[in-house]
Amino acid sequence: MSDYEQQLAQEAELWGSDAERSAQTVPPDWRYHRHLRHNIVYHTHDIDEFLSHVHPGMTVLELGCASGWLTLAMAQRGAKAEGIDISEKSLNVARQYYDSIRDSVSGSVIYRAADLNALELPAETYDVIAVKGTLHHLMRMDHVIAEIHKALKPGGLLWVSDSDGEEKMSTALVASGLMFVLPTHVSYRDKISGLIRFGTRAPSRIKASIEAEGLSPFEGAGREHDWVKLIGQRFQVERRIDAPAVTGYITHQLRMPDMLALPLLRVLCAVDRLLVRLKILRNTGVILYARKSITTM
Ligand SMILES: C[S@@+](CC[C@H](N)C(=O)[O-])C[C@H]1O[C@@H](n2cnc3c(N)ncnc32)[C@H](O)[C@@H]1O
Repeated sequence: MSDYEQQLAQEAELWGSDAERSAQTVPPDWRYHRHLRHNIVYHTHDIDEFLSHVHPGMTVLELGCASGWLTLAMAQRGAKAEGIDISEKSLNVARQYYDSIRDSVSGSVIYRAADLNALELPAETYDVIAVKGTLHHLMRMDHVIAEIHKALKPGGLLWVSDSDGEEKMSTALVASGLMFVLPTHVSYRDKISGLIRFGTRAPSRIKASIEAEGLSPFEGAGREHDWVKLIGQRFQVERRIDAPAVTGYITHQLRMPDMLALPLLRVLCAVDRLLVRLKILRNTGVILYARKSITTM
């Protein structure tokens, strides 16, 4: 096995275990996922908006589909949907769940395992291609974007939600301050001793943690590629949505009952978005709606 194949197997195992764990608490179905705290705070509106572009009879594809909740959501809107991922474990979670609710799904779903870095897609086949949280794991991003372009029908929609570039130190500083003050899984006693131990290195550690450094063998593999620019070179970018800078991270760390956490996080999210708009904070989460031109380029 080459180093790359070993890393790919690790990647598949990591996300497969994650999909299995998550499916034990919430079925891999957007109708349930949309009520999870992090989705309520900053995702549900964006995902629902994307799904409103999917119509009955469309042929759609998701790359990096994991447990398949987004692929399935497109089929639940009547599309003929396909999901691709490297993790057989994740795909099995997706297949099992789809089998259990198949009769209630107006469209259809197929899942298949493939390495996106070696992706080969049929030409002019899909009306919509979605890629969420996956591009920044890919080493051959240019190749993948070229395949997506080839595979979309003229006028087809590419929807990408991903992190773009490195986190800034200013973001890490704000996140560190909030993490220190708010109740998280780390006790206040451990926070104080951590501050004494790490001192000025504490924000760098938070920055690495926001970037999920070390989590996956390919975490950040695609970070040096500017996917927003690469997509802009081939597609007409119709819309760009900038995610808040620190809200996502804080939402995952916060330990508070929903009754208190949700209003707090909503206020944080609104202030965060404003600071991003004023360019005081730099977000890395970006959603892009990009259209393949009707005339072939
Ligand atoms: C961060 S997860 C995102 C999952 C899902 N899109 C979501 O938003 O819930 C990244 C996914 O990409 C998949 N992936 C990573 N590298 C891949 C590759 N080279 N080929 C195919 N899938 C890959 C992983 O198995 C994982 O399911």
